[in-house]
Amino acid sequence: MSLKSRIQNYTNKDGDPMLNKSLSASDVHSENPSMPPLVFDLLTAKDLEYKEKIHQKLMEILDLSLINKMANEDAKKQISEIARRIIDDESIPVIARTRQLIVNEIVNDILGFGPLELLLYEPTIADILVNGYNSVFIERFGKLEKTPITFKDDAQLLKVIDRIVTNVGRRIDESSPLVDARLKDGSRVNAIIPPLAIDGPSLSIRRFTQDKMQLQDMVAIGTLSQAMADVFASMVKVRLNILVSGGTGSGKTTMLNALSNNIPNNERIVTIEDSAELQLKMDNLVRLETRPPNIEGKGEVTQRDLVKNSLRMRPDRIVIGEVRGQEAFDMLQAMNTGHDGSLTTIHANTPRDGLSRVENMVTMAGFDLPVRTIRAQIAAAINVVIQLERMEDGKRRVVSVTEINSMEGDVITMSEIFKYERRGVDDNGNIIGRYLSTGIVPRFHERMKQRGINIDLGVYIDQTISSL
Ligand SMILES: Nc1ncnc2c1ncn2[C@@H]1O[C@H](COP(=O)(O)OP(=O)(O)O)[C@@H](O)[C@H]1O
Ligand SMILES: [Mg+2]
Repeated sequence: MSLKSRIQNYTNKDGDPMLNKSLSASDVHSENPSMPPLVFDLLTAKDLEYKEKIHQKLMEILDLSLINKMANEDAKKQISEIARRIIDDESIPVIARTRQLIVNEIVNDILGFGPLELLLYEPTIADILVNGYNSVFIERFGKLEKTPITFKDDAQLLKVIDRIVTNVGRRIDESSPLVDARLKDGSRVNAIIPPLAIDGPSLSIRRFTQDKMQLQDMVAIGTLSQAMADVFASMVKVRLNILVSGGTGSGKTTMLNALSNNIPNNERIVTIEDSAELQLKMDNLVRLETRPPNIEGKGEVTQRDLVKNSLRMRPDRIVIGEVRGQEAFDMLQAMNTGHDGSLTTIHANTPRDGLSRVENMVTMAGFDLPVRTIRAQIAAAINVVIQLERMEDGKRRVVSVTEINSMEGDVITMSEIFKYERRGVDDNGNIIGRYLSTGIVPRFHERMKQRGINIDLGVYIDQTISSL
């Protein structure tokens, strides 16, 4: 089902072919030939003038209070009919296709999400980012692209934002100019308008795509090599504790999701998130989400509360969406006391930075422990850090896979097993590089062997494992 039909309270059961139709002018390109570019069939400036004229005429004739009372289907039919009649009566010189486009757009403007309709049905779009009425970006296959789609003006954009927000029972206006909400289909929407947004209303929709990327999809687009993906799947199967590290939007949650989908189906999983994003396919799964305090400041349930509670739920694995606070302590405890195979992410720029952030979180939580003790806990708990990076060509890559060894003095020692080596930039601004193994055979190789998983040693020893 499309995002749109799930946002709406009113439904388009007929699958509305006119709304579904994506439109010429191939302004949006995807550089990867296997990923077809989106083509938008947009009205020319002249046709837009006609549309404006028809729209105005229509508003004179149309009884909006009546339309509001009608079922959506009937309203749509009514508006289309009147619009067509106006085109005929006024002898507006447009060909049949343009005529249909104009009618569609008018219907979308009055009843739907205006120009956004062109995007909401397209399943390959991961994010829709509206920076202002004439600046609409989308992200597909991990690449950000500007679209030729525009709103008429800020007022129209605001109206669309208002419609989306109202649909989920929220409100946006000058006195509360910021809304962060989850749509019915799980997509996240953030809208922020003036006076907070200086240059006009802004809207971000991060879509809860029905199918999040799996490791194999990531191999296909060069996020990691095939050999690394095989090792990752085995790391999860043999219950290593894994920390996925990276900046905002580097693909941490997506990686966590892909890793988690390699957990054997007979294990019981508890997931803990601030806002549920993970999509796991297992049956024995309990999903927990934190709750912010209410207006009186009461009723808050933190990640720490949920981690503690999860330990009483007899989990085989705990998956925490992102560690960011006091729960770090309880997570380490859990990892060190039988809940191995736990997975989480952290906002950090290097594996080492990731570990020191965990350390800080434990310290900040107010546990009066010597630094060395905390570090020893971390070194014992976390087995592997997977470092992700969103590079300037817009692609996400696994830049480092690092095994945590032990302590030497006060320092946690670690060894890098795989890394990404940058070699340059091509004419299109794409980064050229390759995934390498470092020649170090990880300690978890033995653990895998003991559990019947035999990764070919060449994977770690032969230097170039992929030239992606
Ligand atoms: N390996 C990848 N390649 C391309 N796009 C990706 C990849 N991983 C994630 N994305 C996309 O990037 C955006 C952010 O991903 P997400 O996993 O939520 O990042 P983070 O959790 O680090 O903020 C999403 O739109 C997602 O679909
Ligand atoms: Mg995330």
